[in-house]
Amino acid sequence: MKRLILLLIGSAVMFISVSLVAQPKPWVVPDNFKSMKNPVAVGDVSAKAGLALYTKNCASCHGKAGLGDGVKARTLKTFPGDFSNPGFQKNSDGDLFYKTKTGRDEMPKYESKLADEDIWNIVNYMRTLKK
Ligand code: HEC
Repeated sequence: MKRLILLLIGSAVMFISVSLVAQPKPWVVPDNFKSMKNPVAVGDVSAKAGLALYTKNCASCHGKAGLGDGVKARTLKTFPGDFSNPGFQKNSDGDLFYKTKTGRDEMPKYESKLADEDIWNIVNYMRTLKK
């Protein structure tokens, strides 16, 4: 009986640690960013500007179609994510703006590299990558 209990506890601990490792860490976005309204109108002009900026700054890791398969992706410890995934597209515009602006770990921050307007253009472009 004692052995069985130990075995059960052991399996529970294993299960919890595996699921913690497999889950991507939640990325908490402050409320003032989350609810931010995208000031750049969606449309061909913005998506085209966004495509150019995305190709130059982001595609090396995120891949041309945002699948997370850029040439640099295989050198990363963290999977950059699949932008065509419905789960990704659930991010609000403000979420995507915040994550791009501030980065974390292997995701660079673009605060000092890109103007806010350019980041919003990229956000509009990322919206076109859904399946
Ligand atoms: C050096 C590689 C690299 C480059 C270049 C890069 N990223 Fe990332 N990006 C990552 C990684 C790795 C993650 C996952 C980070 C994490 O979850 O901790 C990520 C995550 C993200 C996320 C959050 C995804 C999610 O599921 O919530 C967004 C949005 C994003 N990147 C946008 C961009 C944009 C826009 C650019 C270009 C302006 C860019 N990234 C350039 C590596 C990169």
